[in-house]
Amino acid sequence: MILYFSGTGNCLSIARQIAENTSEQVMTFYEATKLDLSRHSVVGLVYPSYYFNAPTPVVELTKQLTISPDAYVFIVVPCGAQTGNSVWSVEQILKHKGIKVAYCNKIRVPDCSAIGFGRNPNDQKWKFNKYAQRLQTIIKDIKERRHSKHFGAWGIAGWFCSLTWMKRYTKPLLQPQVNTRKCIGCNTCVSICPQNNISIADLPQNKFAFIGDNCAQCLRCVHFCPKQAIEIAGKPTPKEHQYHNPDVKLKNLLEEKL
Ligand SMILES: Cc1cc2nc3c(=O)[nH]c(=O)nc-3n(C[C@H](O)[C@H](O)[C@H](O)COP(=O)(O)O)c2cc1C
Repeated sequence: MILYFSGTGNCLSIARQIAENTSEQVMTFYEATKLDLSRHSVVGLVYPSYYFNAPTPVVELTKQLTISPDAYVFIVVPCGAQTGNSVWSVEQILKHKGIKVAYCNKIRVPDCSAIGFGRNPNDQKWKFNKYAQRLQTIIKDIKERRHSKHFGAWGIAGWFCSLTWMKRYTKPLLQPQVNTRKCIGCNTCVSICPQNNISIADLPQNKFAFIGDNCAQCLRCVHFCPKQAIEIAGKPTPKEHQYHNPDVKLKNLLEEKL
C-alpha cells in the first residue's frame, strides 16, 4: 500500500508510478487513517517537503496510521531541492509506534512554491529529465526491498524551520489568499482542498471562496484556480505560472478519497 499527500500532483504521480511497478495500491494519507494497514507487508509514504520538513497534515495523519512492525516501510520525498528534516520527522513518529523505516530517498521535481527559483515552476520542467532515471532506481530498490537511507542535506534548516517562532515567519511566505474581485465562486478550490478548508461566501452581491484556518499550504487551490484568483502572499500567479504535474488532472483530484 502506498500512501501519498499531494498538492500539485508530483507526489501523486510518483506514488502511482511506484505502485504500478510494484503491484501495490495507492491511497491518500487521509483515507489510510480510516483503515487498518497492519495486514500490508509493504507500506510506502510519498509526500512533499515543505519548509525543509514534512507537511503538517502528514505529521498529524502519520500519528494515526496502523502499520505492522514487520512491514517493509519506505519514504520517498519529491521536493524542489532540499528535504531537510522531512524524512526524519516522520521517521521519529513511526519509531515511537515501533515501526522502522527501511528505505528513504528524495527526488527533485518542479517546485510548486517556486521559492528561490523565481515564481514560475514551469521553468523547472528540465528536472523531469533526471527524475525518470532516479525514479527507476528507487523502484528497483523498493522491489529488491533494499535497506538504505538517502537523507537530504540541510537537516539543520529543517530543525530551524520547525521552531514555533520561526513558523511565524515562514508560514506567511506561501499563504494563499482569495482575490475577491477575481473569484467567481466556481467551487473548484472547495472541491479539491485536501484539508476541506475552503468554503464559498454567498453574499447578495458577490460569491467568492473563503480560506479557513486549517490551510496545509499545498497550493493546490492557487495552481488549479480557473480565474487565477488565489494569490500567494498578495502576489498573483498568472496562468502561465500555474503548475501541476502533467500526469495529474483536475478530474483525478476531484475523485480523491479524503
Ligand atoms: C509550502 C511549501 C514549502 C516548500 N518547501 C520546500 C522545501 O523546503 N524544500 C524543497 O525542496 N521543496 C519545497 N517545496 C516544494 C515541494 O516540495 C515540491 O514542489 C513538491 O514536489 C510538491 O509536491 P506536490 O506536487 O505533490 O504537491 C515547498 C512547496 C510548498 C508548497
